[in-house]
Amino acid sequence: VRTTTRLVRPQDAERFTELVQANREFLAPWDPVRPAEYYTLQGQRDTIELLLRAHADGAAVPLTILGDDEIVGRVTLSNIVRGALQSCSIGYWLAEAANGRGHATRAVAQSCELAFAQLGLHRVEAGTLVANVRSQAVLQRTGFRRFGLAPQYLKIAGRWQDHLLFQRLSDAE
Ligand SMILES: CC(C)(COP(=O)(O)OP(=O)(O)OC[C@H]1O[C@@H](n2cnc3c(N)ncnc32)[C@H](O)[C@@H]1OP(=O)(O)O)[C@@H](O)C(=O)NCCC(=O)NCCS
Repeated sequence: VRTTTRLVRPQDAERFTELVQANREFLAPWDPVRPAEYYTLQGQRDTIELLLRAHADGAAVPLTILGDDEIVGRVTLSNIVRGALQSCSIGYWLAEAANGRGHATRAVAQSCELAFAQLGLHRVEAGTLVANVRSQAVLQRTGFRRFGLAPQYLKIAGRWQDHLLFQRLSDAE
């Protein structure tokens, strides 16, 4: 089993459209409510364009996850903040059929390496729903530590829901 990550490309839109359609119910409990447009090719093109614009602005690094050379999900470093904070957030999802093989764990590990070694950041933050034990296991395997609980932190599946907050710090001075 091989996992690679690379910058999202506009040409990925077709495959992402297939994946978000096929995984709509699987992802729904962990996602914001999406407009109908999100599940269309144009919606995925627009999503990728927004992500690449944020990348051009230095605010995000959106990465396509490939499992054995097939697109299986996405991991995004976002909210990149410089100055005294030098921090970003990480978010990720995998197609249901690609779960259980370590793809998310390796993709998150590769993204942290990029955040620290290439972007020179000090910290990567992640938030999970309290019930999202699979995501918490990914963070545990990749060196994150839980540091808090944020009440009503994000509007997920239509409700403001509590999140556990995790962070991983760089070894660099
Ligand atoms: C959260 C999510 C990415 C986790 O996916 P996952 O497949 O459980 O995580 P990984 O890809 O790292 O795989 C881990 C599983 O593969 C197994 N595995 C096999 N080989 C492995 C390896 N080399 N390294 C790590 N795990 C491996 C692990 O034992 C684990 O199995 P388990 O499910 O029986 O415990 C996925 O469930 C998802 O997309 N959920 C919906 C969206 C979401 O919640 N995103 C996160 C929001 S905070």
